[in-house]
Amino acid sequence: MSDETIAQYGLADSFIPPYPHRYTERLSVWKRIELGSKNLLATFREYDFQNKRIKQSFLGQTLHVCNQPEGVRETLHQQAAAFEKKSPVQRHTLEPLLGDGLFVSDGRTWAERRKIVAPIVHGRRVDTFAPIMSDVAAEWCQQWEKAGDGATLDVLFEMGELTAEIISRTIFGAKLGRENTQQIIAGFAAYQKSIQVLDWLTLLNLPDWLPRLRSPRTLRARNKVHRVIDDIMRRFQAGDVDERAVIRSLFEARDADGRPLTKTAIRNEAIVIFMAGHETTANTLAWAFYCVSQSPRVQERLKAEFDSVLGGRTPELSDVANLVYTRAVVEETLRLYPPVPLLGREATAKGTLLGNEVNPGDILIVAPWLLQRNRDIWSLPDHFVPERFVPSIAQRPNKYANIPFASGPRVCPGMTFALTEATICLAALLQHFDVRLQDGLEVETDCRLTLRPTSPLSMTIHRRSPAPAGAGAATVSAVADTSAGAVLAREHDSAQ
Ligand code: HEM
Repeated sequence: MSDETIAQYGLADSFIPPYPHRYTERLSVWKRIELGSKNLLATFREYDFQNKRIKQSFLGQTLHVCNQPEGVRETLHQQAAAFEKKSPVQRHTLEPLLGDGLFVSDGRTWAERRKIVAPIVHGRRVDTFAPIMSDVAAEWCQQWEKAGDGATLDVLFEMGELTAEIISRTIFGAKLGRENTQQIIAGFAAYQKSIQVLDWLTLLNLPDWLPRLRSPRTLRARNKVHRVIDDIMRRFQAGDVDERAVIRSLFEARDADGRPLTKTAIRNEAIVIFMAGHETTANTLAWAFYCVSQSPRVQERLKAEFDSVLGGRTPELSDVANLVYTRAVVEETLRLYPPVPLLGREATAKGTLLGNEVNPGDILIVAPWLLQRNRDIWSLPDHFVPERFVPSIAQRPNKYANIPFASGPRVCPGMTFALTEATICLAALLQHFDVRLQDGLEVETDCRLTLRPTSPLSMTIHRRSPAPAGAGAATVSAVADTSAGAVLAREHDSAQ
């Protein structure tokens, strides 16, 4: 985004949402471990947001952190085979929950499972999934309506339930029921809280086969999630769910030798789809509500877009292309708060990163958290500026500089699903409600496995009456001279 664009659209005073304190002084490895065990993102210093590559050795282990588009291409594309394996920290923290599920597996298991799981959630199915997303979003509007004007809600929890309901109905074809949904959400939240993100056996580079001690809290949380998923799978086998459920593919899949997946493999992949598909989008929506609540300019532009495109209707798939600014809000939220902020890999063969040697056993961290706020790449890197994702205002960023869904062979297969879902849900709810942060609430980042706002994210909801369709264009032109509104209005006019 050029200085001219920033001045033309009045973006310099945009809201700066919170991020962990950035030290300017050198930090000892011990200090980093202490900070990282509470919040993984607290270990980065101011300088790291410009530095292209950080190399650090600790007890015989070498760590390379990559914060440069060229390094992303090298790591996740050109040398994807050598850097395919997830880092020991990721494996040891997620394996109790996901087993050998796609998200943590590698080699032959990963290749076979990817062929089975990716088509289940792929963008090609979005035509079938979108009407369900719209239905659930409309139900949430009714629920918020019932909660009453001015009601206080934990928006992070609300979004967890909403996205769990969507993943359940789209993929599992069943209405999970509130009780089960809440148990999964609570189970995963408890799992995140209890897990030792930086476990000492891993930091000391001790072998994988040494058993890691799990706290009773971690095991209880895991068991809670497993119980609900097992129950869904049992109901599925008993024919007690929608026959058309796409999860059927897991039961019908055959490996290269013609064998079906084991019961455990089916459960692991079902949990991967549920967790990968619900937690990430829930965090994105929660951050989006928060950032919008702090940005009057963004609120005005969203309202104008809703009134112009929707006029009170529940958004559908055909509206998504016209909800240009809403989608930009989602993308900007994903830039500032990528739900998977660090992509960890362990090198299994020799390679290079930005001209430096990488040896087998070295750890690589491709860091969307640093890359998507890199001062050399982004103007106003810490500001919430959706306009940078509006095609008629700014050029799209380099595709290796903005990677909330990763990149290369392990790219998120649910990307289209997630972007469609987030756009529909955000538009459906914000069209009818203004959301305001509870007075005095300090929101912070919380990053153990995924990046989420601290909970509860208490916000009050206030009804608004959308104008009839088309009315928004006039509202937008009222701010035309100084804002992105004119451009957006032109886009909508030409789209209609
Ligand atoms: C805003 C929402 C989402 C974000 C930001 C996101 C991000 C990611 C990222 C970064 C990865 C790769 C991690 C790595 O390489 O270390 C990933 C993998 C994955 N995601 Fe998503 N995701 C989202 C939503 C979804 C949804 C809705 C689904 C399914 C419906 C899904 C299914 C998966 C699966 C199955 C994998 C594992 C892929 C593999 O390892 O081959 N994700 N996601």
